[in-house]
Amino acid sequence: MAVIVTAGLTKAYPRVTALDHLDVTVGEGVTGLVGANGAGKSTLIKILLGLVPATSGTARVLGHDVAAEGARIRALVGYMPEHDCLPADVSASDLVVHLGQMSGLPYAAARERTSDVLRHVGLAEERYRPIGGYSTGMKQRVKLAQALVHDPRLVLLDEPTNGLDPSARDDMLGLVKRIGEEFGIAVLVTSHLLGELERVSDHVVILDTGRLLRSSATTDFLHATGSLLVEVQGRPDADRLLGQALVDAGLTARPAGGALIEVEVRDETTPDVVRDLTVDLGLGLVRMQERHHRIEDVFREGAAGSVHPV
Ligand SMILES: Nc1ncnc2c1ncn2[C@@H]1O[C@H](COP(=O)(O)OP(=O)(O)O)[C@@H](O)[C@H]1O
Ligand SMILES: [Mg+2]
Repeated sequence: MAVIVTAGLTKAYPRVTALDHLDVTVGEGVTGLVGANGAGKSTLIKILLGLVPATSGTARVLGHDVAAEGARIRALVGYMPEHDCLPADVSASDLVVHLGQMSGLPYAAARERTSDVLRHVGLAEERYRPIGGYSTGMKQRVKLAQALVHDPRLVLLDEPTNGLDPSARDDMLGLVKRIGEEFGIAVLVTSHLLGELERVSDHVVILDTGRLLRSSATTDFLHATGSLLVEVQGRPDADRLLGQALVDAGLTARPAGGALIEVEVRDETTPDVVRDLTVDLGLGLVRMQERHHRIEDVFREGAAGSVHPV
């Protein structure tokens, strides 16, 4: 089932169009929303929560219209905001209990859920100390915990790895993955680091200056569009010879610097074709390695105009 559907969604600020006729559908599981700073990620999330009105177009979250049913949506959705917004003089425990109550939980249930979610995000005894003394990583965990306290159907996580060092970032991404996999909560998670969400997302949506650049299953980025990097020897023009033979065989091949050739993978027989042609030409195969395309590549190609929105 689609958890988020937008149609022609547009947000125009006086100086900039933050979202430009965006049509995107987000399903269950973990979806990464990727784009450079200013691409429109946070604007989209605020519209989905009913916090910011769209200029035109529509969006539905869990079947509810963002323009008319914002309060209903916010009861069903957890939100981890991008910027630091935590009070310094309150403990994590008190804050999350309070926010749980504001989401409609009775006090006893809010306490119980708070203890569960703080444990899940890995905040132990320090949960009783004021948040002002926490590290950035601990603050991000508090923000995540409050997004989960009312047992939402969907969470919108805006740059949860912001400001974290590599090891804290890995921990946070692990938590994001667990929310999707173990708790069965649909997740929309953003990052301005284009390659960061590949590991944890089932699906990736790429925004570029308010427009949809691409929306695909993560495996499509990483496998279906892969290529082989091939190095051959035996003659001075070995790479050129093999390149020509590959093209004659109907494959797409191009020089990749040095004596390397990059061959687009058409299907699972492509490595065999490369091997056979190398032997036919009397050349030696020095190496053949898979080169998976990464989200960054799609972004670069898109910027150059060769990838069309799908
Ligand atoms: N309240 C606002 N008023 C005017 N412009 C805004 C406002 N919020 C965001 N923008 C602009 O909209 C664009 C998208 O911003 P944003 O959604 O925050 O992008 P992202 O989260 O991907 O970095 C940017 O150019 C930003 O400057
Ligand atoms: Mg943002």
